Amino acid sequence: MEKHRIAVTRTIAQPAIERLHNLGKITIWSERQPPAHIQLMQMVKDCDGLLCLLTDCVDDHLLESAPRLSVISTMSVGYEHIDLEACRRRGIQVGHTPGVLTDSTADFTVAMILSVARRIPQAVEYARSGLWSTWDPGLLLGHDLLGMTIGIVGMGRIGEAVAERITAFGTNLVYHDRIQRTDVENKLNAKFVAFDDLLTQADIVTLHVPLTDQTHHLISYPQLKMMKSSALLINTSRGKVVDTEALLHALLNREIDAAGLDVTDPEPLPANHPLYELPNCLITPHIASAGAATRTKMAHMAVDNLLAGLKGVPLPYPVA
Ligand code: DGY
Repeated sequence: MEKHRIAVTRTIAQPAIERLHNLGKITIWSERQPPAHIQLMQMVKDCDGLLCLLTDCVDDHLLESAPRLSVISTMSVGYEHIDLEACRRRGIQVGHTPGVLTDSTADFTVAMILSVARRIPQAVEYARSGLWSTWDPGLLLGHDLLGMTIGIVGMGRIGEAVAERITAFGTNLVYHDRIQRTDVENKLNAKFVAFDDLLTQADIVTLHVPLTDQTHHLISYPQLKMMKSSALLINTSRGKVVDTEALLHALLNREIDAAGLDVTDPEPLPANHPLYELPNCLITPHIASAGAATRTKMAHMAVDNLLAGLKGVPLPYPVA
């Protein structure tokens, strides 16, 4: 049997890695930080398969230096880090891991909504700091979810899963997408509205769109201005969907009440960034899909794609 050369750009779940043994030569980047572009090029130059993450930029330049590559499998649902057109030109199959992280990401989004609405990080900090001296009727008042209007931007798999969960809190749902989802409207009593109307009506705006040219800075100064001054913005999609400077300005000036970000631009957000200083901004390090079982399933799906690509058969989870 022909031996393959495979590059894996980080340590992923061991049971998934074990499925690659006996295939040939496997190079695993075992450091915590991703390989620099030049190191990645070095890794893949003789490879026929690449299993990468969303932190690896797979561009035309890299592909140029890896003439044997026949399959690229990213262990992520998002694939904006891969130049798909350049892959198509070279006949390289590209796979990703859709569906498997929907529930995990939706759970996390709801956790973030509740944390921001009920000011949980501030409350934890308050208790820890020794300031808690009595039960205080006015202490750390937050937003009740009951009766709130939730605006879901992007009613794909994750948007729908968030919608399903959040209605259990007695909320009203409005959404915007390129495609009207009458199935979700019927199931969850969600109302399709124009994007601007969603911004003006929603008490909580939660973003669930992929990063594309159309969604880059979808939320910037004008959109933040349209939102209610009491509104919350939640982003568990991609950092670049929100204009960071505009958000900082809006939070500082209380043009919106608070934000929860699991993704940032830049990512990671530098430790000295002023957003960290704001009590009304909750930032987590891109962990919405970080359920242990979910990450193992993602690794297996990525290996499924890689193995199919090495065999030269269609990938089970190709990018669209
Ligand atoms: C993805 O898979 O694209 C997610 O952002 C990872 O959490």
